[in-house]
Amino acid sequence: MNQENRTIRPRRLRRTEGIRSIVRETSLTPQDLIFPLFVVPGEGVRKPIVSMPGIFQCSPDEAARDAMHARESGIPAVLLFGIPRRKDSEGTESCVPDGVVQEGVRAIRQAVPDLVVITDVCMCEYTDHGHCGILDDNGTVDNDATLEHLRRIAVSHAEAGADFVAPSGMIDGMVAAIRSALDLAGYTATGVLSYAVKYASAFYGPFREAAEGAPKFGDRRTHQMNPANVREAVREARLDEQEGADMLMVKPALAYLDVVRAVRNAVPELPLVAYNVSGEYSMVKAAAAQGWIDEKPAILEMLLGMKRAGADIIITYFAPEVARWLTER
Ligand code: PBG
Repeated sequence: MNQENRTIRPRRLRRTEGIRSIVRETSLTPQDLIFPLFVVPGEGVRKPIVSMPGIFQCSPDEAARDAMHARESGIPAVLLFGIPRRKDSEGTESCVPDGVVQEGVRAIRQAVPDLVVITDVCMCEYTDHGHCGILDDNGTVDNDATLEHLRRIAVSHAEAGADFVAPSGMIDGMVAAIRSALDLAGYTATGVLSYAVKYASAFYGPFREAAEGAPKFGDRRTHQMNPANVREAVREARLDEQEGADMLMVKPALAYLDVVRAVRNAVPELPLVAYNVSGEYSMVKAAAAQGWIDEKPAILEMLLGMKRAGADIIITYFAPEVARWLTER
């Protein structure tokens, strides 16, 4: 009882399922999701990734099958990573016409024409040293030498039919360089989804097994961001907007929901993507396998939290199962 005969009771809005549903502020639908795929050379290949139960390295034909199933369950987009036949110091296989991502894009385009196809543009899966670019004499990523390669990779993905290219190396000027390369090559309709705000995170561990792209020495702290910083995230996001990015990304998601909110507020005009990364996936899978966490509500709560923080779209390895859960209810 607050005053006289007037009572203020927030619980009225939680009394029945119907009431809870009309006052809900945020929702999660299959249309919000992007499903990442790991493409390897060959045919009929489907190799489990041990640290990511339920996720596979697939040859282009198998990736196209996964893409079709994703589309059928209401997922509008996939994000492709490639594991090449051969690695070298310059990541040569990243921009050849019959490269693994290029073949993957073509196979998916043909099998599922209305699916949005996004490709990761980075050199770490293609270089023998595992770094995200060309190295200088000190073994650090040479920013401007790397830009030239990113331009070529992006154009070759566009040529194969990608709708968006997604540079993930945190190389200064990568969005402007790629935008101008695409335009010069006539791919004015191909968009850039920038990994604008990407942290040097421990949560990429399982991905580095999946994509076979762990650095052979050192780390990525001269280009990926310090987890301590959020003002810097706003700066990175604004720069990528100025350079012509069509969409922005914050990565990882779970430990960075404040960053998602800050970028959403600072650059309200652009669609914002949160990347629910490999470590965030594997943690839940591992705990669920032990019976220590109730997997389905835990996953839905995590993804809803990302939407509430301000993400429009979520890249997640959970996409197929989440889409199934959301449509069967
Ligand atoms: C780099 C890249 C990484 C991820 C996506 N793109 C790894 C890294 O920066 O080391 C991580 C994705 C994940 O953990 O799910 N090309």
